[in-house]
Amino acid sequence: MRITVTVDGTAYTDEVEPRLLLVHYLRDRLGKVGTVIGCDTGNCGACTVHLNGHSVKSCSVLAVQADGGDVLTVEGLSRNGTLHPVQQAFRDNHALQCGYCTPGMIMQTLDLLAEEPDPDERTVRLGLEGNLCRCTGYQNIVSAVQDAAQRLRGGSTTETPT
Ligand code: FES
Ligand code: FES
Repeated sequence: MRITVTVDGTAYTDEVEPRLLLVHYLRDRLGKVGTVIGCDTGNCGACTVHLNGHSVKSCSVLAVQADGGDVLTVEGLSRNGTLHPVQQAFRDNHALQCGYCTPGMIMQTLDLLAEEPDPDERTVRLGLEGNLCRCTGYQNIVSAVQDAAQRLRGGSTTETPT
């Protein structure tokens, strides 16, 4: 099937198998390897991207379902080498160790903060419950999300010393 999809601001038209998953289209066709595969079964959230403004697990979406749509991946967040505030907050709060979950965590965080610009800890933990991290114990991720929220609201940051 022929699909046309905008990914990180660039329009692509491709012939794809109807069974091709969006995550495989992004990684194997477009080279968007910043979006990663953890489980391939919709459980870990590592593959999270935005489709038409909302987070989706791209291993649970067919590429043909994105036809005519607008996809944002973690690779579309930084501008001219400057990290997005959410990316910078994850970095400053040491919210990653191996980093494998991080692209999905960041994309889910953006969705969460669009819904709730000033989330308390419980809201953050609920909002990220579909994204698993094997390394951090989550506390620094929660701190990063609340820091990112403050940055996006235009407040001062709570940068953690490195
Ligand atoms: Fe998609 Fe785990 S790879 S949810
Ligand atoms: Fe390793 Fe989250 S930092 S899985």
